[in-house]
Amino acid sequence: MKNNMEKSPKREQFSSRFGLIAAAVGSAVGLGNIWRFPYIVGRYGGGAFLIVYLAMVAIIGIPIMVGEFIIGREGRQDAINSFKRLAPDKMWHMSGVIGIAAAFLILAFYGVVAGWTLEYVLLAIKNGFVNKSSSEITDMFNLFISNPIKPIIYQLIVMTLTGVVVSTGVQQGVEKAAKVLIPILVVIMILLNIQSFLLPGGKAGFDFLFKPDFSKLTKEGVLAALGHAFFSLSLGMGIMITYGSYIPDSEDLAGTALNISIADTILALLSGIAIFPAVFAFGIDPAEGPGLVFISLPNIFAQMKGGYVFGIMFFILLFLASITSTISLLETVVSYIVDNFKFQRRNAAVISTVLISTLGVFASLSNGVLSHIKIFGDNIFDFLDNLTANYFLTAAAFISVIFIGWFLDKDLIKNQITSNGKYSREGFYKIFMFMIRFIAPIGIIIVQISLI
Ligand code: PHE
Repeated sequence: MKNNMEKSPKREQFSSRFGLIAAAVGSAVGLGNIWRFPYIVGRYGGGAFLIVYLAMVAIIGIPIMVGEFIIGREGRQDAINSFKRLAPDKMWHMSGVIGIAAAFLILAFYGVVAGWTLEYVLLAIKNGFVNKSSSEITDMFNLFISNPIKPIIYQLIVMTLTGVVVSTGVQQGVEKAAKVLIPILVVIMILLNIQSFLLPGGKAGFDFLFKPDFSKLTKEGVLAALGHAFFSLSLGMGIMITYGSYIPDSEDLAGTALNISIADTILALLSGIAIFPAVFAFGIDPAEGPGLVFISLPNIFAQMKGGYVFGIMFFILLFLASITSTISLLETVVSYIVDNFKFQRRNAAVISTVLISTLGVFASLSNGVLSHIKIFGDNIFDFLDNLTANYFLTAAAFISVIFIGWFLDKDLIKNQITSNGKYSREGFYKIFMFMIRFIAPIGIIIVQISLI
């Protein structure tokens, strides 16, 4: 097994290290970092949750990302067929099946939130945040998401756009855009952070985020930390397996995974630092839920110098960041339908866009007229969000770690980690094997069982 490329000479590869990292970061960075991370931190109590989250990223997330890269680079196929190629006639590819189902369900509610960002771009342009009290801004958000029509129109715009991009396959362009957009997003986040430092009354927000109070940590919080690590790093969904299949043989997998995870985590932290001081300064409830970003940041924009321009730029970027993620989610579903059922790409894109959007309509309505429908105590929107992150992604990842740790040939793993001897990764290999064989699977099981 010297050179993977001999097996599939036609498979595309990333042209540069930066291109690879930008593409993977483009998938990883999205609403998960800026919208989901803060509201999950807020819901589960702040600093103590943050520490558990960081630990989950480091000891479970990074090894699993390396593991997904290995499966992809060795299999050189999509998420399901890479497994099939490495282990014919076995059931390991179920990991890919669950992952694709997760992508389908995630996109249903993710598309709704991506639509919210569009409304907020327009609100920012109309200067809609100035002279509003914090409670008016909260009411404005709640009124908007519970509206039976408006958010659905935005959601359908987002889904149509995503469907068009995926059906024409201009992913190249999107990845190029991600390279430019993400640095701009980082700069805006840093400016917002500076603003947050200056907010009177913001210190309580820093304390909330950085002074851990372990009495606030719950079992559900630990599961949410694990689930969010997968969600945010785009793991358990076959995405990093697919990207792994495009990584050249010479590239260092461990370093790549580390860079992506660090970039993703920094963005989440920047988002937390921008948001929590505002939450406390403006008297917003940190456990507000999915509306947190949409309520806290407009308060800052309303007050800060140049807030008008920053507000517009921020929501445009948030929209674009979410679009790069909706595309990678739909692409996962579509490429499976194309490969497996031999559909034409366009038809597969149309069918999956229609099905996912329909489910998304229910997710959106569950914030308003359908809010009385509860599944295990959650409305449809929250149910999809929790179910996928906490159960589907962890299940898919669990199957992969057992496969890699206990069934995949060790020499093959070593060759992948050292890139056929190009890098000496003795220490990393040992740590990796230990994590993948023991820590990751035991960690996932303990977290899941503790909730039963
Ligand atoms: N990781 C993305 C985010 O943080 C969400 C996502 C998950 C995108 C899975 C693609 C696949 O927003």
